Amino acid sequence: MKLLRIDSSARRNSVSRQLTAKFVEAWKKENPGGEVIERDLALTHLPLITDEWMLAAYSDPAGLTPAQRETLAVSDKLIDELLAADTIVIGAPMYNLTISAPLKAWIDQIVRAGRTVLWSAQGAEGILKNKKVVVLTSRGGSFRPGTPTAQFDHQEPYLRHILAFIGLTDVTFIHAENQKPGELAEAAKSAALEQLQQVAVGIRRPELAELREA
Ligand SMILES: Cc1cc2nc3c(=O)[nH]c(=O)nc-3n(C[C@H](O)[C@H](O)[C@H](O)COP(=O)(O)O)c2cc1C
Repeated sequence: MKLLRIDSSARRNSVSRQLTAKFVEAWKKENPGGEVIERDLALTHLPLITDEWMLAAYSDPAGLTPAQRETLAVSDKLIDELLAADTIVIGAPMYNLTISAPLKAWIDQIVRAGRTVLWSAQGAEGILKNKKVVVLTSRGGSFRPGTPTAQFDHQEPYLRHILAFIGLTDVTFIHAENQKPGELAEAAKSAALEQLQQVAVGIRRPELAELREA
């Protein structure tokens, strides 16, 4: 079994990093022989999409020049990591009501025709099937469904759509909300830590997750 851990906070000791670290720990306990691939987007060179990138990405792979292959090298590496993983855990801080720029740059590199999405006369079809995704967010405010601020959450709806576009439809979100100085922060983080451990166990042993939900 392989777990891909993606971190995307600018802060080294960030809340979302604490959540992904705890998820890895719980996952390793359940999968002692498993492998964890670490991808820290704050430490990764993530080029922006350019004209050259698009030309290369939409060319026949067999006819790529060495320069074009180099242009796509980061994208290829990040997609290979995704393809290799059975489970993907994404740490996502909320910045300005959405995801961080490094996470968006990662998405721009991994959503790619022919590698993660197929285009046909019927439209687009995601290639990445049968993988579980757990998104662990950290936010200063609260955006619970049914509250007046829910409409400003451009993080979970966006991630759900773009992940589904490449075939990743089995996605669980756990939010550590209210992560600003104040009495609510610690309890919200503890609740998220508790919840993510149950999800990590449930991936391997769904019967235990069902028992806990009951
Ligand atoms: C640049 C920046 C923008 C932020 N924008 C928002 C926001 O729009 N809504 C919100 O609830 N919190 C916002 N926050 C607070 C963060 O979501 C919060 O600090 C969270 O814990 C960040 O995740 P991290 O601890 O993993 O870095 C922002 C923080 C920063 C640094």
